[in-house]
Amino acid sequence: MTRRSIGIIVNGVTGRMGYRQHLVRSLLAIRDAGGLPLADGTTIWPHLVLVGRSETKLREIAQRHGLEDWTTDLAAALARDDVEIYFDAQVTQQREKAIRAAIEAGKHIYTEKPLAADTAAALDLARAARSAGVRTGVVQDKLFLPGLRKLKRLLDGGFFGQVLSVRGEFGYWVFEGDWQPAQRPSWNYRASDGGGIVVDMFPHWHYVLAELFGEVRSVSATIATHISRRVDEAGRPYPATADDAAYAVFELAGGVIAQLNSSWAVRVFRDELVEFQVDGTEGSAVAGLRRCRVQHRAITPKPVWNPDLPVTEDFRAQWSEVPDNEDFDNGFKVQWEAFLRHVVAGEPFRWDFLAGAQGVQLAELGLRSAREGRRIEVPELSL
Ligand SMILES: NC(=O)c1ccc[n+]([C@@H]2O[C@H](COP(=O)([O-])OP(=O)(O)OC[C@H]3O[C@@H](n4cnc5c(N)ncnc54)[C@H](O)[C@@H]3O)[C@@H](O)[C@H]2O)c1
Repeated sequence: MTRRSIGIIVNGVTGRMGYRQHLVRSLLAIRDAGGLPLADGTTIWPHLVLVGRSETKLREIAQRHGLEDWTTDLAAALARDDVEIYFDAQVTQQREKAIRAAIEAGKHIYTEKPLAADTAAALDLARAARSAGVRTGVVQDKLFLPGLRKLKRLLDGGFFGQVLSVRGEFGYWVFEGDWQPAQRPSWNYRASDGGGIVVDMFPHWHYVLAELFGEVRSVSATIATHISRRVDEAGRPYPATADDAAYAVFELAGGVIAQLNSSWAVRVFRDELVEFQVDGTEGSAVAGLRRCRVQHRAITPKPVWNPDLPVTEDFRAQWSEVPDNEDFDNGFKVQWEAFLRHVVAGEPFRWDFLAGAQGVQLAELGLRSAREGRRIEVPELSL
């Protein structure tokens, strides 16, 4: 068995996503499994170079996981010949500059979403990467969630007949930080720091809708900053300047209408933090992060509107659980494995910088729709 070591810079490893999902649940999990096997018998072994701003935090993470290669000097890490991939999970605003440097250094690049602050910058990065001949990828983790995988299986099997509409509810209450600490970083609530729920969630909605139901043709969004004052990590009050809720309608190619609410100011009366209800002529499904339940046309009840009577049916009990039928691995890890195979073995990988730019574009147009109070068409992007 040949072991092929591949040097990967992990920048932003001290952050929520960089540490938990990318380092621990993906890259270290691949190492714990002995590496990533390829079809030809080679095993890919991720050699990790941790990069960040704080020596203390990096040293602590490295020691905790038996790693030795870390630095606060990104330029020096990018100059290394034994590094082939640059990964970015920094705050969004630091991303473009770092990715540009990585392209110039000739590294392949994998990054958290959103790819950049605006569509022009995202497309520019995609073009620069293409000219430099480096491979690119953007995290699209929701596609690999068990609930959405089961939904895709239903779509592929023709369960729905003609899909009519999708309604999605995403969100939970993010504490203001006064009497209980907030469970998300404060930069999320400051527009000047790249925060806002539209910038955060619309890139996800773009790939979920496009991959499952059809390309997004138009967006109409109303946004709000429901909680206008929050308290940061250091206990200092600050004005929340970014949107914390978005109520949006998307028209898709093929005629499906998707209505998605995203909010950090909603209390959960659902089974999961995100749920999509899909209604089709032959059947309907409700998919969350892990579960997916269906109701077929043949067993659809016939409720009759009568507010004078108490509810006579247990509507939730009339749905059936879609079985897993396979083992679902962590979604971030599955996508990392696909990207590593893409870089090392040339396997196809369609979630590239152009796909990332489409997500940025949907966020930008969603914000414009809210600002101008109108529905906005989404033009096709190309390099
Ligand atoms: N795929 C997903 O589901 C998902 C979920 C949440 C966040 N994200 C994305 O991941 C990225 C990181 O988000 P997070 O929630 O982990 O944030 P975080 O605040 O927890 O981490 C941010 C990281 O960036 C680093 N950083 C570099 N320069 C910085 C600066 N000038 N100011 C502050 N931090 C700086 C921090 O040290 C830290 O390592 C964001 O781009 C976000 O959009 C993706």
